[in-house]
Amino acid sequence: MQDWLVTATEIAVEAGARIADVWHEQRNVSFKGEVDLVTDTDKAVEELVVRRLRAAFPQHPILAEETAAAADFAQVASEEYLWIVDPLDGTTNFAHGYPHVAVSIGLVHRGEPYLGVVRDPMRNETFTATRGAGAFLNAAPIRVSQTGELNHALVGTGFPYDRRLHAAAYLRFVEDFLLRAQGVRRAGTAALDLCWVACGRLDGFWELKLKPWDVAAGVAVVREAGGTVTDFDGSPFDPCAQRLLASNGLIHAEMSALVAARLAREHELTA
Ligand code: IPD
Ligand code: CA
Ligand code: CA
Repeated sequence: MQDWLVTATEIAVEAGARIADVWHEQRNVSFKGEVDLVTDTDKAVEELVVRRLRAAFPQHPILAEETAAAADFAQVASEEYLWIVDPLDGTTNFAHGYPHVAVSIGLVHRGEPYLGVVRDPMRNETFTATRGAGAFLNAAPIRVSQTGELNHALVGTGFPYDRRLHAAAYLRFVEDFLLRAQGVRRAGTAALDLCWVACGRLDGFWELKLKPWDVAAGVAVVREAGGTVTDFDGSPFDPCAQRLLASNGLIHAEMSALVAARLAREHELTA
């Protein structure tokens, strides 16, 4: 299994280099939804990652963002091993030249995050983890923070692509944390948000409507760094359930109480 991580890491580093190489070039942007972008680079990097994974692991199926159909989500729970790829997490950042993007390659085993690589090509940082073998940043072990109270915590979040429909509801979650945490950040790359919880730069993170490719790798990294990842109400995390709460563990109950209570009041998000 260590070989699997080495191979996935090589692929993620190579894919990240593709993103860095074109950083100063003109973007060719098209729209998947009102605010949901895709660039030629998302597609080219996905093609590279999928081709390299297929060559290395011909026995394993692959779910990759730009080629996935809704029906493919069933694979997450049903396959023994499934590679899950976000070729460019943070596409809006990439389109604007905001240097906070990642390549995310995760492996789930019967729906449970098993191995993860998240490559940040702009900082030259690679986060890796395999279940039971620890989490690493550029090969050095990482741990979640020791922050014991939400009052002293820096937390992150993100806004799903239906944000124009539900802006007020999403902002009420943010307001809850502005009133109780030390600070709130929205950096625009969920895979890195998770890895930053894993290495203690953030104490917690929540988001609604993330997709399996946003989280498969990062969840493995957070858990192996000693953190906790669940659904909003503290029940087991499901990569397809669209609710994710990650933390250092110490502030998990406080965060869970807030997001679960808020979600229960935001009927438009659960209808
Ligand atoms: C997005 C990013 C963002 C999160 C969105 C995701 P993409 O992924 O992870 O941080 O808030 O929900 O869809 O589209 O840049 O790969
Ligand atoms: Ca993504
Ligand atoms: Ca993406």
